[in-house]
Amino acid sequence: MSKKYLITSALPYVNNQLHIGHLIGCLLPSDVYARFCRAQGRDVLYIGGSDEHGTTSEIGAARENMAVEDYVEKYRAKHLDAVRDFNLSFDLYGRTHTKLHEKLMHELFARLDSLGMIEEKSSLQPYSVNEKKFLADRYVIGTCPHCGYEKAYGNECEKCGASLDPAELKNPHSAIDPESPVEMRETKHLYFKLSKMQDKLRTWINSRVGWPKTAIKIANKWLDEGLHDNPITRDLKWGIPVNKPGYEDKVFYVWFDAPWGYVSISQAANDDWASWWKNPDCHYAEFMAKDNVSFHSVFFPAQELAMDDNWKTVDMLKGFNFLNFNGAKISKSTGNGIFLDEALNIAPSDCWRYALLASAPETDDTDFTMTRFAEIVNKDLNGLLGNFVSRVCKLSNKNFGDTIPNGTAMDETLAHRINEKLAELTGALDACEFRKSVVALRDIYGIANEYMTEKEPWALVKNGNTAGAAAVLNECFQMIDLFARISAPVIPDAAKKIQNIFETAHDLSWPTMYEHRIANGEKFTVPENLFTRIELNNEKDAK
Ligand code: MF3
Ligand code: ZN
Repeated sequence: MSKKYLITSALPYVNNQLHIGHLIGCLLPSDVYARFCRAQGRDVLYIGGSDEHGTTSEIGAARENMAVEDYVEKYRAKHLDAVRDFNLSFDLYGRTHTKLHEKLMHELFARLDSLGMIEEKSSLQPYSVNEKKFLADRYVIGTCPHCGYEKAYGNECEKCGASLDPAELKNPHSAIDPESPVEMRETKHLYFKLSKMQDKLRTWINSRVGWPKTAIKIANKWLDEGLHDNPITRDLKWGIPVNKPGYEDKVFYVWFDAPWGYVSISQAANDDWASWWKNPDCHYAEFMAKDNVSFHSVFFPAQELAMDDNWKTVDMLKGFNFLNFNGAKISKSTGNGIFLDEALNIAPSDCWRYALLASAPETDDTDFTMTRFAEIVNKDLNGLLGNFVSRVCKLSNKNFGDTIPNGTAMDETLAHRINEKLAELTGALDACEFRKSVVALRDIYGIANEYMTEKEPWALVKNGNTAGAAAVLNECFQMIDLFARISAPVIPDAAKKIQNIFETAHDLSWPTMYEHRIANGEKFTVPENLFTRIELNNEKDAK
């Protein structure tokens, strides 16, 4: 039986159009990894979806004067378009506002409660007098007690990343009605006793291997500061109702229910979901941006471990730094960035996939620009890959017609060089090191180009060495077949086009070694150009 791989991509809030930051921060790398695993014959469950609860949805809906349900539907539709357009191969791109999810949350909460992991506490919380309600999470804005940022939210400061309790904010005011007086009033909430999990969690974190430094640092910072009990209920209407008497007017905190969305979406996707989620031999990889890391490295696993029900905890937590655009934060409100509905008017999906992966913010925040984008596409995809495929097919067609020219034995020097890089590529993808994997992929394209330049098949033809030219071109076709296989996780559309060059269908399974799979005399067609050069003409683009 092949080993099970569980792969999840952070569930974006459905309050905006997705942008290239979301694509590189979780959606794309998880997809590349899922495709790579499937190509190896691994048994993959790949889950994503919409995080529909929380004050981001409620406040957004109020701003657009819509019912929350309609608002969520509107943005989810846009996200689904992006999932389709960028070839994200989720087994299911689900959502959290479902009956199944509610049922799961109720069971999980009851379980934690029965284990004594839930505590009721009264506290003073900001209350908006004019609006007659408590201000939860993003409904309350004030000054961060840690860094002094004046627009911190009640639950978190986007500036310093601190996780906050609304009661800690200085000068709290309402996000919706800033003029309304805000008083501190007493209200009760349920808390998850995170502090009890300190030791277990430390041991667990210490047993994780291969996480990016940023992720490990964030997790340890939380543990070093000492874990505090966490309120998991909110005075809101939109969300999962709390299944405890006395809490009829409250819902669960969005970050309590959202990560469990991975499980409820798995349940919706596959009847056999437990063979991933309750299987200690399964490998679980999560993909997210760094602002999500504390929730995935501390809160979520703490709940899983507390339940003692064999929940699969994350093995590889792939946390990314932020991608900026033209030197500034990507943001819908300032209009800075490339949004996924516009991106395809600029270039096809494969170009974004490759160029973003080549620029993945793995070790630091990374600046992305259109100039960088064009350079990568033009050099690597159009230059090294596209031109090679096109030159080989055309030259061969001109001299040998529409069948693969006769080959001889594999060129061992060439094979050795390729195999070295192939091992690097496989290792990098296995370790979820995406920049490294793009470098190795590009190096293989480069080796093929060098081979062609050195062997000069066109000169061999000219000098009457037809058999020699045929052998070189044959070797080139074998490399083209290899390209389809090793490029497929990153640029699936191009890989398909390359695969279709050959009349016989050759699978896109992941190769362990460079091999000759294309038979002498097999039919092929000269493809359209795989890529077109990107020309930047206006000044704004050419930064
Ligand atoms: N909705 C969150 C965000 O966009 C991510 C939630 S990830 C999950 O930052 F695991 F909690 F779902
Ligand atoms: Zn702060």
